Amino acid sequence: MVPVIAIDRAAPRPLHRQLYEGLRVSITDGTLRAGQRLPSSRGLASELGLSRITVLNAYAQLLAEGYLQSRIGSGTVVCPSLPDQAGVWNPQAGNGERSRSARRRLSQRARLLDPVSLTHAAFGRNPESARSGAFVLGQVALSDFPFQLWKGLLTRRARATCTESLDYGDNVGSRALREEIASYLRTARATRCQADQIMIVSGSQQALEIATRVLLDPGDGVWMEEPGYRFARNIFRVHGCRIVPVRVDREGLDVHHGIKRYRSARAALVTPSHQYPTGVTMSASRRFQLLEWAERSGTWIIEDDYDSEYRFDSMPVGCLQGLDPAARVIYVGTFSKVLFPSLRLGYLVIPPDLMERFIAVRLAMDIAPPAFQQAVLADFIREGHFSRHLRRMRLLYAERRSVLVESIRNEFGDGAEITGEQAGMHLSLTLRGISDRHLAELAAQQNLWLAPLSYSYIEKNRRQGFILGFGSTSAEEIPAAVRKLRTLVDSARRVSLVKPQLVAS
Ligand SMILES: Cc1ncc(COP(=O)(O)O)c(C=O)c1O
Repeated sequence: MVPVIAIDRAAPRPLHRQLYEGLRVSITDGTLRAGQRLPSSRGLASELGLSRITVLNAYAQLLAEGYLQSRIGSGTVVCPSLPDQAGVWNPQAGNGERSRSARRRLSQRARLLDPVSLTHAAFGRNPESARSGAFVLGQVALSDFPFQLWKGLLTRRARATCTESLDYGDNVGSRALREEIASYLRTARATRCQADQIMIVSGSQQALEIATRVLLDPGDGVWMEEPGYRFARNIFRVHGCRIVPVRVDREGLDVHHGIKRYRSARAALVTPSHQYPTGVTMSASRRFQLLEWAERSGTWIIEDDYDSEYRFDSMPVGCLQGLDPAARVIYVGTFSKVLFPSLRLGYLVIPPDLMERFIAVRLAMDIAPPAFQQAVLADFIREGHFSRHLRRMRLLYAERRSVLVESIRNEFGDGAEITGEQAGMHLSLTLRGISDRHLAELAAQQNLWLAPLSYSYIEKNRRQGFILGFGSTSAEEIPAAVRKLRTLVDSARRVSLVKPQLVAS
């Protein structure tokens, strides 16, 4: 018996491929049973009106994949050891939906995180950033990036590519790029570092992941700024660390509060140059307290220095790592803010004695990012385009920042508190009498992108307000957008005032 196999002579797929697929489906859905004999190639060819070589090709493929067996004297049979339950492993049903969930157990760490839908993932890390409009958080002024120049460098590198460059490169990232970064960090960020301490990674998120793997075990306590950077929280959660929220005030992380809450934490993640999201700069006394506590208690400090190149009213503030005589700071930097986020390049500055451990953990993950992008970036820095770009963007963002602060003062007067406007590409706005999440949803319908401040808190006592990105919002758009925001806030406050009266009457 030959199962019904539809052969379409007009289809672009070769006939032997169609026959192979037809037979394979018949085997996997149980139409052809284990041990069942197949017609001879000559017989099947004449039955289906095909050439014998077509049938032989299809049989050969099924033999090679183990669906068929050929025995001298008994012809070709369906492999007798295949499971004989029709449809059990039909590849058409392979989406997992029919399986019992108990059999599809995932690791506990995967279950610690909320799943992210494909629709959200399609919009990048911040699904909301797919929305256009004012104040999108974390977006840089892409249209002001010297794109033609970058394309020129890409082309030049592509032309110069030789076969040697196809090999695995340096495991910690391109030497040329590490040299450029080290020299930039020493001058611009007062970092103590040599190229040999630098590891190129694909953004700060990966840097934090590597540092966590090297430094922390499940159950270890980690201080996190409260409010703080919520994308880092998931890394610590997934590694089973105990997250200890530590208050942030006008001087940055409150070290005494941290010591009171959890003295023996293994690590602290801090953003001292421009605290995320409040934007405060950690004071000198707090820096020394933190370093002193870290040395005394054997704690690692992870310094996330994500956007401090843009400082508007004073010279850039030096980093914490440069003040640390005890080499307890692991410094994390990224090109996502200063260039563009799809570049996916960042770096770690690692204390020399930990370098070999970091490399070992890194090699167990993914080795270095693609060498080609690294080479182009090294050219960009070496030829002076990077510092020129930074200077230009500092002026552009300074203007946007000033217009935003002025517009907020005009619209809200004393009714809103602004923090963090001295640096970076966002500021924080605290507002009383609103629910920031609810208002953000309403604002989205009006093309206004408001990141609720309350999302950045772990504990219940949350400030309400918004983190407003001004990187991709032009100075011309800002006044009207702030007016829109005030109208929304006014009506939300009116509703919350009216509501209790309605209930009372
Ligand atoms: C506090 C903080 N760190 C780091 C980053 C950059 O992350 P990445 O380098 O993975 O793009 C961001 C981006 O929004 C951030 O807000």
